[in-house]
Amino acid sequence: PPEHIPVICIDGPTASGKGTVAAAVAQRLGYHFLDSGSMYRTTALAAMRAGIPIDAQHEPELAALARTLPVRFAGGSIWLGADDITDAIRTEEAGMNASRVSTLAQVREALVALQLSFRRLPGLVADGRDMGTVIFPQAPLKVYLTASAAVRAERRHKQLISKGISSTIADLRADLEARDARDANRAVAPLRPAEDALVLDNSLLTIDEAVAQVIAWWQARQPF
Ligand code: DC
Repeated sequence: PPEHIPVICIDGPTASGKGTVAAAVAQRLGYHFLDSGSMYRTTALAAMRAGIPIDAQHEPELAALARTLPVRFAGGSIWLGADDITDAIRTEEAGMNASRVSTLAQVREALVALQLSFRRLPGLVADGRDMGTVIFPQAPLKVYLTASAAVRAERRHKQLISKGISSTIADLRADLEARDARDANRAVAPLRPAEDALVLDNSLLTIDEAVAQVIAWWQARQPF
């Protein structure tokens, strides 16, 4: 049964480096990787395309959409039906829309089974906001990865520049603080460290150092 398949949860705020660190840890261990945020991003994009406003009045329609999402994860790419949406869901706007749709309880519920389906042998590294608190509460290792808002805004800025997208650090910081506030203050599955999470502030760490710390914690838990 899947309960015996190990899961490492890596939760934390926007642009904390979770995605990069979680993917690298999964790669190092040969585990599967779940980017749960991409499911909220995909739901939000599908809603925009279907012309469904992202608000509480449309919660049942949005949940129905999430439940039947024709999403496919293939290698590093994400497909919605016949469309490769890998890049389309990575914009700041897509992130903000994902944050809005993710406040709706019925939408969250609709995406649970899809998230659980990623728990396969030999193991899973799951990246999100509520991996340790809600989706995999029994996971043997839960990491809460964070960094200061200033560092996160700067990293996001560099990332966007490398994609040729212009923005200001001040705007990015305001956006990510708004997103953190929404994610942390919502009624359902708010962003917070699980009680048994290990907090890793990577403001002053390189990616490799953060990855090494998670792997060291994981090795210290063996055998569980
Ligand atoms: O990790 P991300 O930036 O791709 O996530 C986008 C939004 O999706 C985030 O602002 C809140 C929501 N989200 C969530 O509510 N629960 C998760 N497990 C992952 C993401």
